[in-house]
Amino acid sequence: MTGSWHELTLIVNEVPLRTTVPARRLLSDCLRHDLGLTGTHVGCEHGVCGACTVLVDGVPMRSCLLLAVSVDGQAITTVEGLAGPDGELSAVQQAFQDCHGLQCGFCTPGFLTTITAGLIGCPDPTADDAREMIGGNLCRCTGYLNIVAAVLRAAELTRARSGEVADAAVDSGQVP
Ligand code: FES
Ligand code: FES
Repeated sequence: MTGSWHELTLIVNEVPLRTTVPARRLLSDCLRHDLGLTGTHVGCEHGVCGACTVLVDGVPMRSCLLLAVSVDGQAITTVEGLAGPDGELSAVQQAFQDCHGLQCGFCTPGFLTTITAGLIGCPDPTADDAREMIGGNLCRCTGYLNIVAAVLRAAELTRARSGEVADAAVDSGQVP
């Protein structure tokens, strides 16, 4: 490929995907337009609203501020990659449903990815921790109360699910 076009491989939701992009293609546009992953939403397009947040090697990043070529070879998790292989909602997705953490849903992919990563670093958050976790994401609809509740619920669900996995491992004899 010549000129300002570049071949790149992104590991998107654990699947290696190759594409060819102009040097200045934003990661958000690459995901949406080149790879067809329109779950990542674009709001402000200048790093303020958080709607475009994806995980890059597990770290929440604003895809509207990243050039696609700058993440060549890296692992990207979008909202499409949060559910389990059988379609089971992730703990964070389930918590948003349980707590009515969305209305129009435009901001939701960015919240889901942000909180998914946030709970790894802070698995037992207080309400203040939850507010801090989502402090970089804007929502025009919900007033945030239900989103904070969803963070706390997601932490509960995550703990419950990991307990179930541990119990299943004991029951199957994998863990003495
Ligand atoms: S669209 Fe990227 S932060 Fe708003
Ligand atoms: S649910 Fe509408 S912007 Fe957040």
